[in-house]
Amino acid sequence: MPELNIEELRDLEPFIVCLGSHPSTIQALLDFDYLLGRDKPSVKVIIATGRKHERYFFGKKEIVIPVLDSVKKLSEEEKQSINLFINLVSARRILSSSKELISIAPNLSGGVIFGERLPEKHALELYETIKQNNLWILGGASVGLVIPGKLKLGAIGGVDSRQFEASNLFAEGQVAVISSSGGMVNEIIRQVADTKYGVSFALAVGGERFPITSPKEAMLSAEADPNTKAIAYFGELGGTDEADVADLLRSGKVTKPIVAYIAGTVAELFDTPPQFGHAKAMAGSQAETARAKRELLKEAGAKVGDSFADFINYLRRLDLMSIDNISKDADDLQNRSKGLIASSLSYDENGDVKILGKDILDLAENSSFAAIVISMLLGKQEISKETENFTDFVLRLLVDHGPYVSGAMNTIVTARAGRDLVSALSAGLLTIGPRFGGAINEAAVIWLKGVKNELKPSELVEDYASRGEYISGIGHRKYRVDMPDPRVTKVLSLIDGLKERKFTNFAKSVEAETLQKKGNLILNIDGAIAAGLLDVLHECEGYDYDALAELTTQEFFNALFVLSRSVGLMAHFFDQKRLDEGLFRLSDDQVTKL
Ligand code: ACO
Ligand code: LMR
Repeated sequence: MPELNIEELRDLEPFIVCLGSHPSTIQALLDFDYLLGRDKPSVKVIIATGRKHERYFFGKKEIVIPVLDSVKKLSEEEKQSINLFINLVSARRILSSSKELISIAPNLSGGVIFGERLPEKHALELYETIKQNNLWILGGASVGLVIPGKLKLGAIGGVDSRQFEASNLFAEGQVAVISSSGGMVNEIIRQVADTKYGVSFALAVGGERFPITSPKEAMLSAEADPNTKAIAYFGELGGTDEADVADLLRSGKVTKPIVAYIAGTVAELFDTPPQFGHAKAMAGSQAETARAKRELLKEAGAKVGDSFADFINYLRRLDLMSIDNISKDADDLQNRSKGLIASSLSYDENGDVKILGKDILDLAENSSFAAIVISMLLGKQEISKETENFTDFVLRLLVDHGPYVSGAMNTIVTARAGRDLVSALSAGLLTIGPRFGGAINEAAVIWLKGVKNELKPSELVEDYASRGEYISGIGHRKYRVDMPDPRVTKVLSLIDGLKERKFTNFAKSVEAETLQKKGNLILNIDGAIAAGLLDVLHECEGYDYDALAELTTQEFFNALFVLSRSVGLMAHFFDQKRLDEGLFRLSDDQVTKL
């Protein structure tokens, strides 16, 4: 039985991975799914860089399809579920991306390679790979495979739902369409639809000189498919595939009637053999000319049109039953317009604002401010009590640390310069960074890396010292080991009830090392909050190391400081407005002249 087993594919529940993205093709697959009556898209994930989601329609509703930058990021369950792929990347990345997917997807059936100009060496290597893994691949340069009523894998059959209907792609038909050309496969699908015999399946082997699935192998799949009663084949000059097809007919390995058309006799008008668009479309010898191939197939028993009109007439004269057209609500899928932005956080519903699905008044009446804050920042509706309590305390603790600190100073100076609230607040917020208030996120990066990679604290400290870099979360201008920051002690006590406290323990072990250098190299409030929040999210919210790392890429860990200290900065603004001492200016002796 050929690897490309059409009958098996009819029963498959497709779980499709797209290597790369091609929005019109992906939307076409989703429209086909929807019109078929599937309750969810067959395309489950896109492997691409530069974004985390892509927005599509499923019916008239907008949905997001997750985007991962590597197949390695797929979950174990996803890897087990993948059964089809479509490779949409450029030629130079086709081999590596396809082989990488094949290596992690044990239940893969096969896929389609859309990209053109796949190097022959790569095509050969992919051919070996699929034979070793009992897979099938169409392409390169293939518009894919469609099994009417069951599966669409590629732009084949069109990308507009009305094209699907016009080609009767929701009705299981009887004629297999096999073509080297993508454009012509769609034309022939339409012609077969017009004969009322319907398409059993259609595929484009692609116009490359070395198609990974040859017309011969496609013919064997058609022969093995019980729904297929006849084969419509479109070939072109160049290559010797039709000799193999003729052998199949003569040897009786293909018994179903073949109606064929071989394009390219126009090449006879040229003095030297012309190269047409497809890589294979050049007759390197007499045997590779369109006319020679036509004769070869005729002698083997195929019905071969000397013109495209003859070809269509042969199709019409097949002795098959007529099938009904199946119409879907294709017009419903027209005139869809995407939102300008997407939000999974909040939206209007019947005039009421919903935040994470909850009515804003309900939220305000039944949730603490801390619970609202942390659930909104995480985009996570349900939050544990431990997380809520930790957040609540940190928000209260960080509101201010006196007018001494750089952020407060900038707000005070700006307020005394007569600027407005938002300008003075912004001046203070813009001070938050790697040394003041904004070290929490970077400290979280360090603690996470230390725990995940089981780093030795002494080696980490030495590594930073050797590079002359400061360890975020360590050090303070005021506090020291013999004058600890009371806030740090309190924050650490908040997580005493947690079982593991991996991150806090690691941070404390780093502090033990830095204190050997200087007494002020304590675990500071930024470092303590970073460690405590990592522990709470890990142990109470189920964030694994990758999920925590993702949060650090969003600078999530600085958010609580920014929010809480905004209160203090605004309070300093109002305080200065009440004091109204006028413009702040340093006197001469307050500036050291170097
Ligand atoms: N990691 C490693 N070594 C450090 C660190 C650190 N975080 N901080 C200071 N040192 C070392 C310096 O390398 C220097 O060593 P040397 O004497 O061998 O040259 C020595 O300690 C003194 O350096 P200073 O910059 O004078 O130390 P200072 O006490 O002024 O630094 C500061 C305080 C700015 C907080 C510093 O520790 C730092 O930048 N820490 C990292 C950023 C951070 O965590 N900031 C948050 C502070 S809390 C908050 O803002 C809410
Ligand atoms: C703060 O919370 O602002 C401080 O830890 C920084 C400082 O210098 O006091």
